[in-house]
Order: sequence, then structure tokens, then C-alpha cells
Amino acid sequence: MISSPISAKNLCVLRGDNQVLDNVSFTIDAGDIFALLGGNGAGKSTTLLTFLGLISPSSGQALINGVEVGADIQGARAQISYLPESANLYPHLSAYENLEYFLSLAHISRSPEEISLSLDEVKLAPEARKKPLSSYSKGMRQKVSISLAILRRSPLLLLDEPTSGLDPLAIDEFNIILKTLSNLGTTIFMVTHDVYGACEVAKRVGLLRQGKMTSMFQAREDQKISVDEVHQAFRQSQAS
Ligand SMILES: Nc1ncnc2c1ncn2[C@@H]1O[C@H](COP(=O)(O)OP(=O)(O)OP(=O)(O)O)[C@@H](O)[C@H]1O
Ligand SMILES: [Mg+2]
Repeated sequence: MISSPISAKNLCVLRGDNQVLDNVSFTIDAGDIFALLGGNGAGKSTTLLTFLGLISPSSGQALINGVEVGADIQGARAQISYLPESANLYPHLSAYENLEYFLSLAHISRSPEEISLSLDEVKLAPEARKKPLSSYSKGMRQKVSISLAILRRSPLLLLDEPTSGLDPLAIDEFNIILKTLSNLGTTIFMVTHDVYGACEVAKRVGLLRQGKMTSMFQAREDQKISVDEVHQAFRQSQAS
């Protein structure tokens, strides 16, 4: 049997004395998009950090392709592109220079044409590409981060609040890029506060509350997950 690219089995995580994740289980199938929602402090970023091997579970498992992350951290990371909450690109370098630099750090060789193509894919305006990132909007910087993920050709993409601070059109553009990557086979695990965006792109949406997965929604073949249902469940989970 082929293992799911990403799965959590009864995952429990302690940070200090806090039980930050409590028996969390989910599976993301190959090429699917999973969106994890939850209030501030619910444990969303912690979940991502556990899959990167930066935090160890106290019990349960975080699995990449069926292998526990802790058993092969380098192997897990080699599969993953991770976009943290605030991207760590260099403001004094241009889009091209940032991409060349981060690719060389990862010992990945890509031609200038491949780099240009990836920037075409994310629709970064050609006239901006040689300017320093300090002159970019947040949405433009996010596009450079996504380009890097495309150039790395990672099968798994982990995103922490990728659309926070983006305007509605930039969010639409971003969601289209995610759907394209998913259609090309990339498995995407996204943490977000954007209920609408989550339902727009995700095959499954999970709701985390104080470290517990309280609801899971699944899109049907021909129907997206209902924004209203998720919103209502979110409100109820916060009230209870
Ligand atoms: N470095 C740390 N040491 C100890 N506890 C931490 C640390 N970072 C986070 N926590 C705790 O872990 C819990 C979950 O934090 P986490 O960052 O995963 O939440 P989140 O769902 O990503 O929240 P947000 O929406 O605000 O980003 C919180 O209670 C937080 O106080
Ligand atoms: Mg967070």
C-alpha cells in the first residue's frame, strides 16, 4: 500500500508544560490541499514545525510518506518546501538574486530561463524582477517565496498563513497558484485564518481548538467545502 505523503497519528506535543497538540490525527492524500484553521494559539504553527522535525512529539506520530519524521529528519526535509509566517528573503537582493542565492544554498542548479519561468508562473511583473525586495509589496515577496518552492520541485509544500496581509486580488492570484501546483501533483498543507480561501482551494479543512482537532470537512467531487458551515463550526468551537 502507498503511504500518504503527510499524516498525523494521535499526535501529541508539549511546549514547556503546555499540551499544545492533543491527539491530533489527519491524512493528506497525494496532490491534495489540506487547510488547518484555528484561533490564535490553537497549535497550527506547532503542527507544521513538528512535520519539519523542529519539534518532537511527546507521543503519537508525524509521518512523511509513512516514515516518522524523527526517524529521518533530513529525508523528510528534502521532500518539503516551507513558507514560514514571515518569509526570510533578503530585502537588499532582487527576486533573481534571492532565488539564485537560496537555490545555491540548497545545492540546486537551475538555469536563468528556469528561474524566469518560475517567476512567470507566479506572475511577478517582469519590470520588478531586478529590483531589491525592499521595494516590493508583501504580495510580491510572497510570489518570490512560491517561485522558490516551484524551483525546488518539492513534492510537499507547507505554508504558514501565506495570505495574511495580502489584498483580495493578491489572495485570488495566490489561490490560483496553489490550485495549479496541486493539479501538478504537489501535496499542500496550509495553515490559515482565511476561511474563504481555505474552502476555495482545499479538499479537506480541519479545525483546531486548543490543540484538539474538533472538526474535519471534506469537499465532494463536484462541490467545494461550505464557507458558512466552516465559519459556523469555528464560531461554535470558540464559544464552547
Ligand atoms: N517557543 C515556545 N515555547 C513554549 N510555548 C510556545 C512556544 N511557541 C508557542 N507556544 C505555545 O504553543 C501554543 C500554540 O502555539 P502556535 O504558535 O502553534 O499557535 P498557532 O495556532 O499557530 O497560533 P497563531 O494563529 O497565533 O499563529 C500556544 O499556547 C503558545 O503559547
Ligand atoms: Mg501560527
